[in-house]
Parts: sequence; structure tokens; C-alpha cells
Amino acid sequence: MKAVRVVRNVRDMHRVADRMRMDGLRIGLVPTMGYLHEGHASLMRQIGRVTDRTVVSVFVNPAQFGPDEDFKTYPRDFERDLAMVRSEGGALVYAPSAAEMYPDGYATYLEVERLADHLCGASRPGHFRGVATVVTKLFSAVKPHAAIFGQKDAQQAGVVRRTVTDLNLDVEIMVAPTVREADGLAKSSRNRYLTPRQRRRAAVLFRVLQEGRDLVLAGERRASVVIDAMCRRVSGSPGVEVDYVTAVDAEAFRPVEELGGRVLLAAAVRFGESRLIDNIVVETERRAVQEIR
Ligand code: PAJ
Repeated sequence: MKAVRVVRNVRDMHRVADRMRMDGLRIGLVPTMGYLHEGHASLMRQIGRVTDRTVVSVFVNPAQFGPDEDFKTYPRDFERDLAMVRSEGGALVYAPSAAEMYPDGYATYLEVERLADHLCGASRPGHFRGVATVVTKLFSAVKPHAAIFGQKDAQQAGVVRRTVTDLNLDVEIMVAPTVREADGLAKSSRNRYLTPRQRRRAAVLFRVLQEGRDLVLAGERRASVVIDAMCRRVSGSPGVEVDYVTAVDAEAFRPVEELGGRVLLAAAVRFGESRLIDNIVVETERRAVQEIR
């Protein structure tokens, strides 16, 4: 297996990216904050099918964490990350320092309006400003032809797509399905914060989303009824504190009264110190299609 190259600064990254492009190679980028797991590995595999060189960025981005959030304690294990990138056939890890990304005097941030108003945008003010900024900086450093994001962070993927469209960035954005544990819990670097008991209880997050989906597929179109049912279920389970449980338009991430088209059922909950998010997309038309058959 070939060694993985590690690039630490933007000048070197530009040089390597230019070289790959001159050689006619298509660059695929997987932006991550490290502490890689099977979800990240699946992004690497999927982008590897459509590009020639996979670059994985590992950068815990201070700009997307609130002052009371877990930036300092966010799990980090660079050697393990390198080993995973290597075993997935990745070519290069771009791991700049915070000082490289945000040197003294840094003053430019991207604000994505409306899309970031609800869900995680509402409960984590400034989060998507930090995400849009860092992702755009990673694009300009790595010069990828394509970049891939996970459906687990659906709103993030939406914000990135919007940024790419609005700023005419020449990067194809791909979105990959959520990889889950056997009990349905979405894989996440933050799952490691959970105590064994919290870990067992955390499966409720996906279960409530599935129950919401079943209600919609059974014909329920009133968002409030679906949301209330999901809320009751999640608040009734022990050790959970609800941040949000909602049903929104899957494109605009805006609350709707009447569910129709592509609906995103999304939830963010806390188990002790850990805040976990998950979502499911439901196509309301699917029921009609199934009935016709
Ligand atoms: P991070 O949480 O490390 O996630 C990196 C990418 O992996 C994101 O696109 C995320 O949606 C995806 N991902 C995480 N868990 C997944 C799972 N269980 N199944 C499928 N994909 C999964 O998201 C970030 O980092 C940061 O915000 C970042 C985009 C790197 C910007 O700093």
C-alpha cells in the first residue's frame, strides 16, 4: 500500500494540486474534521469511483464552533486517520494548522442567508458561516473537481451546494447516504463521548425519525402531528434533552405546515455533553406511486 502524503500548508497544496491537474488527474476532496470512521470511509470510496486522486482534509475548524461548544475536546487521532485514509486508497491528507487557515488579520467570512436560519443554524448561531467559509477555503486550497458530503449533515450539504452555486465555484458536489451502526445510530466522531448507557439509549434518535417517516408514508400530511408524535416519543425516553425535532422542506430547510414533495425529518438531541443529529428524507409522492402499482 502506498504511503499517504501529508500536506500542511496552502502553498504546497497548490503546487501538488496544480501538478495533478497538469497530469490530467481528477481531484476528489473529502472534507473532514478527522477522527475518521466508517461514514468518512464510505465518502472516500464513493468519490474514489469518479475521481483519480482522493484528497482528505483533516481540520477541526474553530470558526464553526460556538464559544460553549466542544472545539477543545473534539476527538483527535491523526495517526489513526492517516491509517484509515491509507487503507481506503487515499492519495493525500491536507491537514493545515489553525494559524495556516486563519492567520493574524484574517477577516473574510461567508454568510449563507435563509438556508441557515433553521435547524442547526438556529441552535448553533454562526455555525454555517464557519462551515461555508472553511469549505470554500478548502476548495481554493485543494482545487478539487468534485467534493463529497454526508447526508447525515443534510443542512450542511445544502449550504455547501448553495455556496458553490452562488459563487460559481467549479466543483461538483456529491452527497452520500448516512452510514449507521447496527441499531440505526448514525456513525459520528461525537459518538465516542457517549457513556455505554447513553450509547444504548442513543438509538432512539433514528427510531423516532423512522416513526415520523411511517406516519408520513401512512398518509399524515400535517407537519404538526408528525412533529408532536416524534417529540413525544423522544422526550419520553430517558436521559435525552431535545434540541429540535422537526419536519422541513428538504431543499430549503424551512418549516412547512403541510408535508409534500421531499420532506426532511430531522432531529438534534443531547445525551449529557453530546449533541447528536440525524435525519431521514421522505418522498410523500412515493405512497401515491406505491398505491398505483
Ligand atoms: P465531519 O463531522 O468530520 O464530517 C465530514 C463529512 O463526513 C461530512 O460531509 C459529514 O456529513 C460526513 N459524515 C459524517 N458522519 C457520516 C455518516 N455516518 N455517514 C455518512 N457521512 C457522514 O462535517 C464536518 O466534518 C465539517 O463540518 C466539515 C464539512 C469538514 C467542515 O469543517
